[in-house]
Amino acid sequence: MNIPFSFGKVVRDDDFTDRTKETEKLLDNIHSLTNTAIISPRRWGKSSLVAKVVTMVSEDKDYLIVRMNAFKCDDEQEFYASYARNIMEQISTSAESLINNAREFISTLLPKVSFSDPLSRYEISFGLDVVRNPISDDILDLPQRIASKRGKKVVVCIDEFQQIGEFSNTLKFQKILRNHWQEHTDVAYILYGSRKHMMLNIFGEYKSPFYKFGDIMFLPKISNGDWRIYIMDRFRESGKTIDSDVAEYLAQSVENHPYYVQQLAQLSWLRCEETCTKETVDGALSSLLDSLNLQFMNIMDSVTDKQKRYLCALADGVSKMTSSHVLSSYKLGTNGNVRIIRNALMKRDLIDVEGKSVQIQDPVFKLWIQRQYKYI
Ligand SMILES: Nc1ncnc2c1ncn2[C@@H]1O[C@H](COP(=O)(O)OP(=O)(O)OP(=O)(O)O)[C@@H](O)[C@H]1O
Ligand SMILES: [Mg+2]
Repeated sequence: MNIPFSFGKVVRDDDFTDRTKETEKLLDNIHSLTNTAIISPRRWGKSSLVAKVVTMVSEDKDYLIVRMNAFKCDDEQEFYASYARNIMEQISTSAESLINNAREFISTLLPKVSFSDPLSRYEISFGLDVVRNPISDDILDLPQRIASKRGKKVVVCIDEFQQIGEFSNTLKFQKILRNHWQEHTDVAYILYGSRKHMMLNIFGEYKSPFYKFGDIMFLPKISNGDWRIYIMDRFRESGKTIDSDVAEYLAQSVENHPYYVQQLAQLSWLRCEETCTKETVDGALSSLLDSLNLQFMNIMDSVTDKQKRYLCALADGVSKMTSSHVLSSYKLGTNGNVRIIRNALMKRDLIDVEGKSVQIQDPVFKLWIQRQYKYI
């Protein structure tokens, strides 16, 4: 029997639930060629949402889709090479068409194009020429040139886009990207990434080149009601049952966090013979906490004592860190110290700050601190 529920990878088809509004919004943005940045804490479903939407769009022959992951790019040169490679490979349907496309679009730019295995797999690699500036400029305009020549619209999706924030002269690079991309009339850019704080720096800061580049979509969590239906359906389809209130309880236990709901649902499913009860969910949650013990201990080992105490205060539900009572009981020092602690934890995406509200980003990490972490 197939084990239901899926976590840790992009989910599709039956594993994908809800996101109706976000799907529509992203589709509208693509159809109106509005650029979109998608921002959320880790593992809330950005990559899965984009995968679903571009699969829908790819059925329309008027659109060409290009997807890239910037995660492995350490500098601009690697970005350009990977960008050009992904574009050429993904607009081609065979080795032959790749050769033709390369001839048509990049032969003057990159004379050293070579194919790793032209007859069976269509991969492309470049010589060092890519690093030269005029070439890089032309690479950035490739989607628009392809769109114009083919009479199509191009959708460019770049995952882990925050990686460009790590490049040594990132602001200059961001300006170059923005200058090119804003001229493209037949291309929609969808930019998303797992580091919320860095994505906000790129898209939300007034001084950033990408400020007001397009629509910023703050992806919400999936609602408890949607999770309830999804969990009950998956149990039923696989020959087991879970009551509606238990399904709700399961999702709530991990604050409706998409990745953890799927993981906890699978652990609960594996632990029950026929019917999943609240006790089953509690047992599964304890085993989940145990399995993450080492990882969470490592995080705690990597922060300062004051940061540890700040996290403990957050897990205890303290909302006003700067009150004198909290400052002294959690030994946080001064208001100024609290600001420094908060900024450091935010940079590491351990906490999420929205206006005055501060949350531990990972709901299971929060639970672990509440239940298992003893600060001495
Ligand atoms: N629409 C959805 N329906 C059901 N489960 C989902 C959905 N979206 C995400 N998930 C769950 O969350 C997990 C993480 O999803 P995904 O990788 O798309 O998130 P992400 O925001 O791109 O993560 P990261 O921040 O690490 O890049 C998936 O493996 C799946 O378990
Ligand atoms: Mg992702």
